[in-house]
Amino acid sequence: MSALTDSPAWRALEAHQRTIASRHLREWFAAEPDRAARHSLEGAGLFVDFSKHRVDDRALDLLHRLAVQQDVEGWRDRMFSGEAVNTGEGRAALHTALRRPVSMPLPVDGVDVMPAVAEVLGRMRVFCEAVRSGDRRGHTGRRFTDVVNIGIGGSDLGPAMVTEALQPYTDDCLRVHYVSNLDAADLATRLASLDPEATLFIVCSKTFTTIETITNADTARQWLLAAMGDPRATGVHFVAVSTNLEGTRQFGIDPDNVFGFWDWVGGRFSLWSAVGLAVMLAIGPCAFDELLAGARAMDEHFLQAPLERNLPVRMGLLGAWYTNFFGAASHAVLPYDQRLHRLPAHLQQLEMESNGKSVDRQGRPVDHATCPVVWGSPGTNGQHAFYQLLHQGTQLIPSDFIIARQPHHSHPQHHRLLVANCLAQTEALAFGKTGDEARAELAMRGVAGERLELLAANQTFGGNQPTTTLVLEQLDPHAVGALVALYEHKVLVQSALWNINPFDQWGVELGKKLALRIGACLLPSAVPAAGLDDSTRALIDRLRT
Ligand code: F6P
Repeated sequence: MSALTDSPAWRALEAHQRTIASRHLREWFAAEPDRAARHSLEGAGLFVDFSKHRVDDRALDLLHRLAVQQDVEGWRDRMFSGEAVNTGEGRAALHTALRRPVSMPLPVDGVDVMPAVAEVLGRMRVFCEAVRSGDRRGHTGRRFTDVVNIGIGGSDLGPAMVTEALQPYTDDCLRVHYVSNLDAADLATRLASLDPEATLFIVCSKTFTTIETITNADTARQWLLAAMGDPRATGVHFVAVSTNLEGTRQFGIDPDNVFGFWDWVGGRFSLWSAVGLAVMLAIGPCAFDELLAGARAMDEHFLQAPLERNLPVRMGLLGAWYTNFFGAASHAVLPYDQRLHRLPAHLQQLEMESNGKSVDRQGRPVDHATCPVVWGSPGTNGQHAFYQLLHQGTQLIPSDFIIARQPHHSHPQHHRLLVANCLAQTEALAFGKTGDEARAELAMRGVAGERLELLAANQTFGGNQPTTTLVLEQLDPHAVGALVALYEHKVLVQSALWNINPFDQWGVELGKKLALRIGACLLPSAVPAAGLDDSTRALIDRLRT
């Protein structure tokens, strides 16, 4: 037993879970007429209803004690102040500096980082304005009409998600595309519809060594040069976002066209940095400022709100409650907004790459669950696909429902039905339908006897599935910034609860290394390397072309 699972707060939670495990949300609501008001919190413009969770005041109190015991506020404060909270790599994790007022100094290792942050943001603004206005043009003098961001993981998912989410704020004369996959079908399909003379590429890679990104960038450069016939076109049509200036120079990108950031910005937390260049091109510098302002508002809320009213703290604690004390193995994110269709993918990386760990900060194996599988897709599509399992399957799956009060379109009928479906699903998941209710409905329809019993069994809904409902006023840059920052801070909270380092990702390295060796074995003339297992060797033989 570890110090954590043997701690008073943990043991008290285990004991309390046993006393309330069979209690139904129907009972919680019946006993507490003002439950919605008591369990709803607000911050940074977001309203969050936590009332449909399987907690009472005692559970919340014990969860807050766990947060205190695990020093959640201490980790938060150390992260914001630039201490080396990335303990394994001995670095700060300062994505919050990227949205901090530039007038507030922030020394890291004795050097104020804010002037550098402001300098890069300033260069991004000038660049984006020049491209958007047409002042900055392609090699043949044509205006840029298309931008292709080549990156993967944090250098793709966050910016791509935000660009989709903020489509109503984008400029029609500049289309922004994202290419990530090593499968050339991704790049080739995109290039097929583009005009090289009017296409600007952003090679976005913190390390500038990621095989997918470098391979795609090489192929894109060949495509450009084949059309232009002049190697100088690379310098005009390619810019880079990276911390690796030597790598970008070797690729042929002019240092003036490189937008830097710092090792204290983790890939999955980087969309606020120059990694957001494609976002800024799409929505413009003013809207990008609003995105940062939204994230900053959530930062301030996280810093200032007491534990009991703190959105990221409550989200993190409730997640741990189900993961560690109810055995929930997954968590669904269900945005009732088509423009947030890439949010689950971004949150998968954010949460699973951060907290999908099995050793603690001291390198000892943990004896409790850590990050659940995060998954999801937009409502209402999911209702006609996997919600069956949420309603009548055998697993406890907590889920987040996200909805904006005001749509961007002028089809109120659609929005009314969308809202109705969102609320109906959380109601059905919470309260279900009892066997007696199912029987009464069937009897009303004239069904009787064995048939009634069979149908009633199939038409009973257990309910008691916990949900959080997040309400935005509108899916605008400020709200998107606040929403993403909320989940970032949830990650920090849970990492503190589990005593793990959320800011490294060693789990991705082994596969990368093995792919290099297998890649060499796949060459037509190669002999499979010694030491390969029988399965891999046989598959290499089958797949070699
Ligand atoms: O392989 C995982 C990872 O390192 C992520 O953490 C990162 O976001 C992604 O690859 C891309 O890395 P880079 O920006 O260095 O190309």
